[in-house]
Amino acid sequence: MASTGKKKIAIIGGDGIGPSVTQEAVRLLEIYRDRARLPLELWELDLGADRFLRDGTTFPNQIQIAIQRECAAVLLGALGDPRVPGLEHARDILFGMRFGYDLYANVRPVKALSDRLVPLKDRRAKDVDIVVFRENTEGLYVGMGGQFKRGTPDEVAINEDVNTRKGVERIIRAAFEYARAHGRTKVTMADKSNALRYAGELWLRVFGEVKAQYPEIISQHLYVDALCLLMIQDPSQFQVIVTNNLFGDIITDLGAAFQGGLGMAASANLHYPASPADTPRVAMFEPVHGSAPPLTGKDVANPFAALLTAGMMLGHLGWPEEEARVEKWVTTAIDERMCTVDVGGTLGTRAAAAWVREKLAAEL
Ligand SMILES: NC(=O)c1ccc[n+]([C@@H]2O[C@H](COP(=O)([O-])OP(=O)(O)OC[C@H]3O[C@@H](n4cnc5c(N)ncnc54)[C@H](O)[C@@H]3O)[C@@H](O)[C@H]2O)c1
Repeated sequence: MASTGKKKIAIIGGDGIGPSVTQEAVRLLEIYRDRARLPLELWELDLGADRFLRDGTTFPNQIQIAIQRECAAVLLGALGDPRVPGLEHARDILFGMRFGYDLYANVRPVKALSDRLVPLKDRRAKDVDIVVFRENTEGLYVGMGGQFKRGTPDEVAINEDVNTRKGVERIIRAAFEYARAHGRTKVTMADKSNALRYAGELWLRVFGEVKAQYPEIISQHLYVDALCLLMIQDPSQFQVIVTNNLFGDIITDLGAAFQGGLGMAASANLHYPASPADTPRVAMFEPVHGSAPPLTGKDVANPFAALLTAGMMLGHLGWPEEEARVEKWVTTAIDERMCTVDVGGTLGTRAAAAWVREKLAAEL
């Protein structure tokens, strides 16, 4: 990590709406750097589909190493471009960070900021405040498997679901530690152990062992299908959810619907140190949404997920009051309809983000 006292942030806008919403978040960080004098150094990287199509570059090894060595965090927009149907660059960059830096905890707050955005009957914003801990380095996303007799009537496609004792234990422990540190009293573990017997048995057994070390926290096990039903019926019964890579991905899109859509959902990719001797890792922050190709270049994408993500990053870097400030002004923007069409406003991407930044800057 940089020894200058500055916190260096690598910025990767990526593809589709990624660069435009990330640009708005970068302008927010520039205000913090220039006006509030936060010691931030911003390092914009030219990576994504355009670069890949231009010269074949995805995620060069020296960049991967430099980020780990010099940066406190990465701010990523989104990756995925129809011109690269094989998603080669997206996989290299995204998994190069998640897997390469061993960012095993994908922390996704499912928090509604306004009653108006909660689509559930008789539910209000106060009923939607869950933090999902999604395992981020294993499961079906490791890319192990293969195809056999492709293109023939007998073809076979296999994706392996990898679950290690270490991987399962550390994400479950991270969820309990988070609950303990943040005054949350309940942790729910979701799996599908009735059908996925071997992996499920490992998750269940480890959950039983870890939860015994947190007797003050109520622990609950649910099959993931039942959890989805219960989330829709009454999200207020959940506080912290821990689950595997695939289920966490799906649950948090469902959760985003309670927040006003994917334009409102932020996330962090973290490596909680296993011991004081564990090497500190760079952390990576990204909105939950993808590159939304149909919205690209139209100034309609909601920038608030990106702003909230930058806020999460500031909280992680040691400025939790600034995380709260970003959330406060995004909430006010929603309340005053100074927002994009997807959340009931009439503003474009740039104007909605500028409104938040102006209000926030006036306070600094
Ligand atoms: N972490 C990532 O970079 C990531 C995550 C998910 C999807 N993707 C990629 O993104 C591409 C598109 O995937 P998708 O369509 O399934 O998911 P998506 O998140 O891009 O879009 C899903 C829906 O949400 C809407 N949406 C997303 N972000 C929005 C925003 N900021 N404001 C308003 N509406 C928004 C879209 O219009 C669409 O209706 C694919 O290439 C996919 O692989 C990348």
